[in-house]
Amino acid sequence: MGIVAEDIARVRESTDIVGLISERVALKRVGRRYQGLCPFHNEKSASFSVNPELGVYHCFGCQASGDSITFLRELDHIDFIDAVERLAARAGITLRYDDAKANQDRQKRSRLVEAMRSAVAIYHDRLLTSPDAGPARAYLRSRGFDGDAARRFELGWAPDGYDVLTRALLDRKFSRDDLAAVGLTFTNRANRMQDQFRNRLMFPIFDRQGDPVGFGGRTLTGDGPKYKNSPETPLYHKSRILYGLNWAKAEVSARDAVVICEGYTDVMAFALAGVPNAVATCGTALTEDHVQVLKNFTRHIVLAYDADSAGQTAAEKWYTWEQRFEIDVRVAALPAGGDPADLYKADPDALGRAVEGARSFMQFKLDRVLGAADLGTPEGRARAAEASVRVLREHTNELVREGYIQQVAGVTGFDHSWFKDAIARPAPRRDQEPEPTTAERPVVRSDPSARLDRREVEALRWAIHEPAQVASWIDVSLFGDPLAVEAFELLAASASFHEALAQATGPVLALLEQLAVEEPVVDGEPETLHARLVVSLVEPAGERWLADLLRRGDDRAMVVKPLLDRIAHARNSDWAVGEQAALQLVGLLADAQAPVGDGSAPAAEPNTEVPVGSEA
Ligand code: UTP
Ligand code: MN
Repeated sequence: MGIVAEDIARVRESTDIVGLISERVALKRVGRRYQGLCPFHNEKSASFSVNPELGVYHCFGCQASGDSITFLRELDHIDFIDAVERLAARAGITLRYDDAKANQDRQKRSRLVEAMRSAVAIYHDRLLTSPDAGPARAYLRSRGFDGDAARRFELGWAPDGYDVLTRALLDRKFSRDDLAAVGLTFTNRANRMQDQFRNRLMFPIFDRQGDPVGFGGRTLTGDGPKYKNSPETPLYHKSRILYGLNWAKAEVSARDAVVICEGYTDVMAFALAGVPNAVATCGTALTEDHVQVLKNFTRHIVLAYDADSAGQTAAEKWYTWEQRFEIDVRVAALPAGGDPADLYKADPDALGRAVEGARSFMQFKLDRVLGAADLGTPEGRARAAEASVRVLREHTNELVREGYIQQVAGVTGFDHSWFKDAIARPAPRRDQEPEPTTAERPVVRSDPSARLDRREVEALRWAIHEPAQVASWIDVSLFGDPLAVEAFELLAASASFHEALAQATGPVLALLEQLAVEEPVVDGEPETLHARLVVSLVEPAGERWLADLLRRGDDRAMVVKPLLDRIAHARNSDWAVGEQAALQLVGLLADAQAPVGDGSAPAAEPNTEVPVGSEA
């Protein structure tokens, strides 16, 4: 059931976003915007800002952003249709539903699922019987997976030919468009249909009803990224799909717990080792959408990441989600540096024990700190106590902290009250180093980057420290502030950073000097780094451009607005989608700023071709 697009637009326009948000958040007017405490994360100073002209909100603390529809969706955890319906009721708008379209959509979906089902069968048959899949069968055996396992999980082999699968599916009367739509086939430069997956061991991904919706393809020869995953398609949304949920769901409910792993092979290992309630995200970190899906089955989550990668995930994310979604998150007792699939080969029973021995996230982190400590000397105990304080401070709930303080006080031998005081002191700056004292910093200069958009500053940091990460897509049209523009132009025109410094003067020189000593911030999942960078720079540029287009009544706003919506919606859940939209926006922006003879608008239809995601 779809809502007619025109009506959705009417709902957006008729909603007073300040009024809507004011029902939940106390807002104060500041210039042309409104500010308040962000409802999406815990904060004491107001970083949440609403722009009534554009009908959007943004939090500078947690980066939540969107329009009135997103606001309701995210705050009340409801779906798009639900949110539009509530806003329509509020604005007294009667919505029209497009049933013919819904019908069409259903038919299309079943055609796409059938194409995927055939692909699963073709790849699977190939793995089991074809001589060219011999190395793949040998590889699986070497990982402890026999023929029964390959059949149980319907594993496959994508042969090393240009269009083996494509031809087989065209023979079965699937249309070219459908094959492209599910991401199995693409059209190459010579305008020929070509297989997306070649020479890869294939893990089919099913939705929770058991319909095949995507693939993860693993290279066995080291060509390209280790896993190539299906792109986002009408069937496959990786921020919502959990690999293995189709098989695991009954056991997840029965055991009232779900084990979340990082990889396809980990899920197989757990199932084969008698832990049938395991699922995995597919090449992404766990998102809020995943949690929403899981909450239909259980509130108890056990993370089965190897201890090192669990330790690297942001603790605050789990603590916040525990409160917000009323879930409880524990960490399985896996050895550092070993993922479940590896452990399975060595000692299958260890997997069940690791889940049994799961501890709270806080306990897991404290155990790591205390386990590494030398408690035999006063210095070692002092270091352990200080490290514990950093861990304890991450939890916002005082009562929870209290319980753990007693524990670390006991282990380290320091007074309970010392810990309480230490936690209450403001945390030192994020980047581990203590603030330099004023004595070490005799000249107090104003911070040259202070007046710039911090996202622009961050992009400049990357342009200085890791130009390779940003060279291919960054464009000067993305910077709004003249100082940032000048700095970037100078960097782009110089062969090296030092050459740029030699030519810089005044505020640009001061800025470059400052940024040269500031490392780019790397927090969050490394695989989404690139996408986050693209999004965080393109979004403000897009917002500025949109404001400008709207002011001038320029039609291109209709192209830009949905791209920004997609970016805002993808933020924190599906970075790849956000990145894709952001890159389209870069193209439009660059076109718009290129000197065009006749002053014509950039192509109204952005290129929407989606390459297969390859998260290295
Ligand atoms: P791992 O590198 O831990 O792979 O990535 P794995 O599951 O242990 O694979 P095996 O056991 O060596 O075959 C974990 C998950 O991250 C995603 C995949 O979903 C993978 O299962 N990933 C990894 C990618 O999407 N792309 C990559 O290039 C690598
Ligand atoms: Mn592995």
